[in-house]
Amino acid sequence: MKNYILITGASSGVGRETAIHLSKNNNLILNGRDETRLQETKDLCEKNSDVLIWKFDLVRSDKLEEDFSSWLREKNIQIESLVYSAGMLRMLPLRGLSLEDFQRIYSLHVYSPALLVKMLNSRKINKQTLKNVVFISSNISNRGAAAFSAYGSSKAALDGLMRNLAVELAPKVRLNSILPGGMVTRMTTGIYNSESILEDAKKNVPLGQGSPKDIAPVVEFLLSPASAWMTGQQITVDGGRTIDITDGRK
Ligand SMILES: NC(=O)c1ccc[n+]([C@@H]2O[C@H](COP(=O)([O-])OP(=O)(O)OC[C@H]3O[C@@H](n4cnc5c(N)ncnc54)[C@H](OP(=O)(O)O)[C@@H]3O)[C@@H](O)[C@H]2O)c1
Repeated sequence: MKNYILITGASSGVGRETAIHLSKNNNLILNGRDETRLQETKDLCEKNSDVLIWKFDLVRSDKLEEDFSSWLREKNIQIESLVYSAGMLRMLPLRGLSLEDFQRIYSLHVYSPALLVKMLNSRKINKQTLKNVVFISSNISNRGAAAFSAYGSSKAALDGLMRNLAVELAPKVRLNSILPGGMVTRMTTGIYNSESILEDAKKNVPLGQGSPKDIAPVVEFLLSPASAWMTGQQITVDGGRTIDITDGRK
């Protein structure tokens, strides 16, 4: 039976770049909501690998177990690794956030990754073949910023989930998180919407502006035997943004 890596958020940004990078040596399942962009990612992948598309809205964590387990049963394949890159940014001060906003973002960033790991580690659903998980978190996970309470707290919860499951599922399954810094992707087009904002942002990053191409090789490392003794770790990949405390920088 063929082995696969499931990549969520594969229709864009970090998930797409990771899919292209990993397709050199792996079979993939691409998840997202936009079928056209998922197909575009598939077309950019290495032709020798088998690339399948599983379209599902991961905010619907209430429907996830039913949908994914029946899809997987139909395909008759095994999934060894999960890269969870699906994410959404809702920048609002607390006074503008509703219960529904929190529920949507926690469904996407916490409940769905938890349920996917549960299913992939199940004997019945995936023959317990799961070995490796990488969550794409954010460098806000251990920090704070105005108007980021829903997004930032959900990424902190994602990393908490990662650490707890790393203990619970060891030694069979390794789980680690990557904490990227700000990059220009579909998610951030509303933030980096002018040259001057981009120029200002660059001044805060010792190594300059990064992109999803800087994240994909780190995912590959965490999925590889080179990181065999690493689990439960947050790996910050942000060009040094969060270690720079130089006064007056900007
Ligand atoms: N860009 C940054 O500055 C930055 C910084 C730190 C961390 N991150 C994290 O990096 C990850 C990837 O973000 P990105 O920058 O690559 O953004 P992106 O280009 O906007 O990609 C987001 C991906 O998430 C998927 N997605 C969003 N909502 C979904 C839903 N309800 N169900 C299923 N899939 C959904 C999108 O798929 P569809 O469009 O097909 O639904 C898309 O493939 C996110 O977890 C984000 O929090 C990004």
